[in-house]
Amino acid sequence: MRAYYFDNLPGDQRLLHDYVPSRPVSKETLDKLNVKYWIIPVDGHEPKVDEIAKERGYKNRDLINVTKEGLGELYEEKIKTFFQEHLHEDEEIRYILSGSGFFDVRESPSDEWIRLLVEPGDLLVIPAGIYHRFTLDEKNQIKAIRLFQDEPKWVPHNRSVETDTNPHRIQYLKAIGVGA
Ligand SMILES: [Fe+2]
Repeated sequence: MRAYYFDNLPGDQRLLHDYVPSRPVSKETLDKLNVKYWIIPVDGHEPKVDEIAKERGYKNRDLINVTKEGLGELYEEKIKTFFQEHLHEDEEIRYILSGSGFFDVRESPSDEWIRLLVEPGDLLVIPAGIYHRFTLDEKNQIKAIRLFQDEPKWVPHNRSVETDTNPHRIQYLKAIGVGA
């Protein structure tokens, strides 16, 4: 997984949006934001993914496959929805099997976007309460395992003054030592 600051330039969200020169983001910075990741080769990934799932209490999983062909006319609309800044009240966990895409996570307190390029073998945990968004890249295809604890709580809460006071948002900021 590659992590770097998003350049904020207008244009297709599916492009790299890497500064020139690039501003890489370290694992320590991601740790501070409670963003966790592991690299598990896709070949023979099951035992290692199972082990992490067990450790972290993810009892359930399903498979998601997003392709331009599969979604047809809905594709452009769908990827715009994924790209709206939001948070969840639970972790968002993805293990990438094929294809690639970008998760953008908001750094606090800087409010800068950090772009995470995810590829096959990346297992990413986006903590509850962090603002983030997702987009496919120019390959327009990603297949991933979604892991979750019990019932999936994937309701997106779009960024707003109201969402800023969501208890999961407040708890997240506290956990990373930002805010009261
Ligand atoms: Fe999300």
